[in-house]
Amino acid sequence: MSCENCHCGCQHTDESRPMVIPGKDVIQVCESRTCGPRYSRAIMAELEKHFGLAANSENEKARLEFRGCLGYCSQANNIAVNGNVLSNVLPAEAVARVDSARLLPPSDGTAPEIQKEISRILEEDFLA
Ligand code: FES
Repeated sequence: MSCENCHCGCQHTDESRPMVIPGKDVIQVCESRTCGPRYSRAIMAELEKHFGLAANSENEKARLEFRGCLGYCSQANNIAVNGNVLSNVLPAEAVARVDSARLLPPSDGTAPEIQKEISRILEEDFLA
């Protein structure tokens, strides 16, 4: 995933950072060029309170960190929860959305709306 997909121009990607760690929730708050100036810090503050963790730290159950671009800049603010990308996140709803996403199976970082489109295309091709 990189900014080449969304043309924000930040060229920031963190592909080497693990989005999934078995047995631990990985919550990554994008702080790159588009998300950063908006609500990244306010969202992180809400999550720090909720998890009792500081940014860029972890305990036995969760890892909470800032990261670079998730590739969905036009839908800032973005958070990845075990690889599931949440878009258009506001600070007041961040904790509820993250807790809901923790119940989902891990993902590869593809946003849900992209996953739906891929499924639709595959279904059409299969039925054709
Ligand atoms: S800046 Fe690109 S997803 Fe946040």
